[in-house]
Amino acid sequence: MNMCCLTVCLLGLLWSVSTVSGAGTTSSPPPGAITPGPATYDSSTMKYDYGKALGLSILFYDAQRAGKLPANNPIAWRSDSVLYDYDDDGWDLTGGWFDAGDHTKFSLPMSFATWVLNWGFLKFEDGYSSTGQKTMMCDMIRWPLEYFLKCWRPDLQVLYAEIGDTESDQNRWASPENLNMERPAHRLNASCPGSDVAGDMASAMASGYLVFKNICPNAKAFADKLLVAAKGIYKFGIDNRGLYSDCIPDGPTHYKSTHDHDELAAAGAWLYKATGETDYLDDAKGFASPRIPWAFSWNQKGPGVNLLLYEATEEDIYLQATKDFMDFVMPGGNVSYTPCGLVFRNQWGSNRFAANMALIALMAAEHDIMPEEYKTWALSQINYMLGDNNYNLSYEIGFGDNYPTHYHHRASSCIAEFLDCDYDTPDDNPNILYGGLVGGPLLNDTYADVRSDNVQNEVSVDYNSGFQSSLAALVHFANHNALPASPPRKCTARSMDSVLGR
Ligand SMILES: *[C@@H]1O[C@H](CO)[C@@H](O)[C@H](O)[C@H]1NC(C)=O
Ligand SMILES: *[C@@H]1O[C@H](CO)[C@@H](O)[C@H](O)[C@H]1NC(C)=O
Ligand SMILES: *[C@@H]1O[C@H](CO)[C@@H](O)[C@H](O)[C@H]1NC(C)=O
Ligand SMILES: *[C@@H]1O[C@H](CO)[C@@H](O)[C@H](O)[C@H]1NC(C)=O
Repeated sequence: MNMCCLTVCLLGLLWSVSTVSGAGTTSSPPPGAITPGPATYDSSTMKYDYGKALGLSILFYDAQRAGKLPANNPIAWRSDSVLYDYDDDGWDLTGGWFDAGDHTKFSLPMSFATWVLNWGFLKFEDGYSSTGQKTMMCDMIRWPLEYFLKCWRPDLQVLYAEIGDTESDQNRWASPENLNMERPAHRLNASCPGSDVAGDMASAMASGYLVFKNICPNAKAFADKLLVAAKGIYKFGIDNRGLYSDCIPDGPTHYKSTHDHDELAAAGAWLYKATGETDYLDDAKGFASPRIPWAFSWNQKGPGVNLLLYEATEEDIYLQATKDFMDFVMPGGNVSYTPCGLVFRNQWGSNRFAANMALIALMAAEHDIMPEEYKTWALSQINYMLGDNNYNLSYEIGFGDNYPTHYHHRASSCIAEFLDCDYDTPDDNPNILYGGLVGGPLLNDTYADVRSDNVQNEVSVDYNSGFQSSLAALVHFANHNALPASPPRKCTARSMDSVLGR
């Protein structure tokens, strides 16, 4: 591919298609926005341009920002919101990411997404730098970490697990800029423990420490703060074991964690990586479970733990556990596939489970575990999401020229001046939510581009994380001439196959 054209193409993709649909979009980034720098990667060995898809995903996270937005906010249709996210005693909890198509802030999935993104950034940094998107990524990933620092009050031994009230939040279809309902701050403490949440927050901050110490410039003081907090939150979790769902009644109806072992194991592994202190490694090995987990997800960290521990110890037990998980998910294993080739764990965000499994495969390949098989399989999954499916549809919003337009996402479905937005309008969402990965197809490959469908057509900070890190991995392998040929697509799109709701 012509390198000179690449930067132009990237910038062009990010900003020019916004005129395709809707009235509320603008055709250029706001002044001050960070945009991609010069790109040096070669997309000619890629079936789809994974570097472009990566940059779009960064923008998705920027669109999920709560609080006072910085001058470099790249999302023209977003502005300051819920500046009243304070605890009753006046403690500032503004910032962070809105969870999904709604506006609650959940520490568990937010911190899981953050460490999965950090993991991909640390392992596949060149995926970001060669696409000119490292500065964008540093800016994007700092946002939730700044928020997590606010969520930890070491003097009180209080950790915040959720801001908002799920029911009143879900009942209001409005843009975040126009919210005014009560948003309670849900605290964890010694008598209301949540070691599941504490584990993931410690992982996010310990991995964030490594990102800001080693990759993102001029951030040593910030990195050090993250490490101190990570250690404190981890100790808080170890000293106060319990599931947050047993104490906070609200959030866990959506994000109820079934154990804390996997979160604490991941946290121990990250803290070992960050500090080199073997006590953390011993803890992690003690918490790790040899059972094959159902998935790699906001609830189940096991496959990630096995790879982090393999990296730390090179012990066969973690190598074998990784292979066992991949045998379980690859064709011929225990998980179903759609006829067109997507591994189908569950209808709630089917793409997200597949993308997370792809990331495990790509991380394993980077450790030289079955590299050709695993990379080829991961390509089949990511390619499905970007267009190798029965509709020639990109499930990533804004990628290519055929992508969802009626996603279940309040902010992008509203024109900012309107207090309430028309949920039932047949029109496209007026603002394009670049980079959001929508839930995905059902087991028979059908998909509904319908705003009311929060099973197939919602987005979330959790959904994009494994997907984005997988894209960084694919660029990295291409940069090293180590990207296998894409496997043939399983289905051809026929003109009669039409997306429901169009
Ligand atoms: C934990 O928080 C609850 C609710 O705010 C409070 O009643 C309780 O006293 C706190 N426990 C500790 C040990 O601070
Ligand atoms: C996977 O399927 C095989 C064959 O049906 C079965 O023996 C095994 O127990 C399954 N593994 C898991 C973890 O469910
Ligand atoms: C696909 O599966 C869904 C859910 O089982 C079902 O309602 C729908 O009719 C199926 N569509 C086709 C085209 O088979
Ligand atoms: C779908 O994409 C393939 C590969 O690019 C192309 O050959 C085919 O014509 C497309 N089908 C439709 C219905 O657009």
